[in-house]
Amino acid sequence: MLFKKTRLGELPASEVTDYSVYLNRRQFLNGAAIAATGSLLPISLASAASVPEPTYKGLIKSAYSTDDSSTPFESVTTYNNFYEFGTDKGSPALMATKFPDKSKPWRVRIDGECDKPGEYDYDDLIRPFTLEERIYRLRCVEGWSMVIPWVGFPLADLIKRAQPNSRAKFVEFTTLFDPEQMPGQNRNVLDWPYTEGLRMDEAMNPLTLLSVGLYGQELLGQNGAPIRLVVPWKYGFKSIKSIVRIRFVESLPQSAWMKAGPNEYGFYSNVNPDVDHPRWSQSRERRIGEFLKRKTEIFNGYGEEVAHMYTGMDLRKYF
Ligand code: MTE
Repeated sequence: MLFKKTRLGELPASEVTDYSVYLNRRQFLNGAAIAATGSLLPISLASAASVPEPTYKGLIKSAYSTDDSSTPFESVTTYNNFYEFGTDKGSPALMATKFPDKSKPWRVRIDGECDKPGEYDYDDLIRPFTLEERIYRLRCVEGWSMVIPWVGFPLADLIKRAQPNSRAKFVEFTTLFDPEQMPGQNRNVLDWPYTEGLRMDEAMNPLTLLSVGLYGQELLGQNGAPIRLVVPWKYGFKSIKSIVRIRFVESLPQSAWMKAGPNEYGFYSNVNPDVDHPRWSQSRERRIGEFLKRKTEIFNGYGEEVAHMYTGMDLRKYF
């Protein structure tokens, strides 16, 4: 995501950290680390370099998975957007190593317009659901994309358990607010806590995933541990991390990004090569690890599963 230095929520396109710039910076950091310690990589990056043993065994392989080859584990876990741990792509991997604090229970509240609200400890929350592996493309609004083998279960399964009533038109999600654990929340870059929203049919769409892991193991802090959303046909910022509240509401929720830049970040944020961001084109993307840019596909290539939800809507107006 992108900020102008001067105003909340905006950054000139020239300040977007391109992956090549990021890699150069890392090479520089590695050089400094070799000079200082004689070792090749800073420890937190070195430990992320190989894929650790899967902790989830016997996962169901989802029919919704893409055949595209997955982005290396190292890139998925070291090139992140998680502003609660800094606005730089490399900071979440360095700053979230102890997140979430295991001594504090992770609780998720499910409330609002539903017949079965509740507050659950993380383990109780996920116990009833069957976990699967789903390999999804994720397209960031900044123009890069990754392919990630997520572990998770359909959000629809959890929604059915909560039994939303007829007034529930949207679902609002909220990230933890805890500046002690998330130092980025001490800075006024977004209106904390981070929030996001989906229309009820989007939330119920079988592609919408609540993720608790990737590459067969539990989510690391930088990827939104212990539980996050993944909405593969929308720009990456809709995939809110480290969720503590899921609320059913009657009117359209304002997300943190809509508040920060209402004419730059809309509620729908469907991946759309024909609707440019006001400050840059959305027609092409750089798949992390590839040299040449590729064309961005409408709905990130998931049109068959999701286009019907937007029939008759002007996608320029509802961006
Ligand atoms: N969720 C929270 N709470 N805070 C964030 O800054 N960044 C979003 C999204 N979820 C973000 C967030 C953006 S811009 C992207 S592209 C994805 O997370 C990145 O997910 P990843 O780092 O696991 O690839």
